[in-house]
Amino acid sequence: MTELIHDIDKLRGRVTEYRRGGRSIGLVPTMGALHEGHLSLIRHARNENDRVVVTIFVNPTQYDDPSDLKRYPRTLAADFEKAEESGADLVFHPEAEAIYADDYRFKVIETDFSRELEGAHRDGHFDGVLTVVLKLLNIIQADRAYFGEKDWQQLRLVRDMAAAFFHPTEIISCPTIREADGLALSSRNVHLTPDERTLAPEFHRVLSSRSTAREMEQQLVDAGFAVDYVEQCGDRILGAVRIGKLRLIDNVQL
Ligand code: PAJ
Repeated sequence: MTELIHDIDKLRGRVTEYRRGGRSIGLVPTMGALHEGHLSLIRHARNENDRVVVTIFVNPTQYDDPSDLKRYPRTLAADFEKAEESGADLVFHPEAEAIYADDYRFKVIETDFSRELEGAHRDGHFDGVLTVVLKLLNIIQADRAYFGEKDWQQLRLVRDMAAAFFHPTEIISCPTIREADGLALSSRNVHLTPDERTLAPEFHRVLSSRSTAREMEQQLVDAGFAVDYVEQCGDRILGAVRIGKLRLIDNVQL
C-alpha cells in the first residue's frame, strides 16, 4: 500500500525506518499533474531501489509569474493513484509553509549557467528549483534521485549542485517521453487549443532537423511560434517557444 504523508517529521521517521532496514531509497521530485513522463521516472526508480518516494509539491519560489503558479493543475487524488500504480511506496505532499519555514531567507544561487537560457527568461527560476531540490534531497536522504532530460538545464544544474555541495544522493537522468508526433509530454500541454496542439509537434521536428540554431529559429518563426531562444549547448540543441499564452521547452541531442 502506498502511503501519503504531508508532515516533514513523519516523513523523516519513515525514511529512517527504511534506512534502518538497510533499504535503498529512490526519490522522484515532481510538481504533480503526473503524466507518462513523470511515471517513467517512478518506474526507473522502482527498478533500481527498494523504496520509492515521490514528492508532489508545486514550488512557489520557482515561479516569477504568479498567474502561472495559480494556473498550475493540482490533482492530488489522481496523482496519488498514478504514483501508486507506477510503484511508489510513499507520496510526500508537504505544505509550502513547512518547506519554507525560513520564509525563503536561505536559498541556493548558482551564478553562471542558471542565468542563461531558461534563467534569462524566468527571473529567479533556478534559485527556486535548486533550493527546493536541496531541501528535498536533505529531507529524504535518498540513494538516487531521478530527473528528466526534458528539463535538461535543470538536470545539469541539479547535478552540478549535488557535486558542489558533496551531496551523497546520486543524480540519475531519464530520457524525454514524447507523444507519437514528437511533442514532449508536459503538464502544460492540456492548455493547448486544438490548433495549437496541431502546431506544437513542429517544435520538436525543427529542433531535430540538423539545421543551425539560427536556421531553426527562423523555421520556428515561419511556422508560427514566438521564439525565446534556440541555442546549442555542448552536444544539445535547446529551445523555448511560445504559442499563444503557453510556453514550451524542449531539447535534442545532436
Ligand atoms: P515537474 O515539471 O513536475 O517535473 C518533474 C520531473 O519530471 C522533472 O525531473 C522533469 O524533467 C520530469 N519530466 C517532465 N516531463 C517529462 C517528460 N516528458 N519526459 C521525461 N521526464 C519528464 O521539474 C519540476 O517538476 C520541478 O522543477 C522540480 C524538479 C520538481 C522542483 O520543483
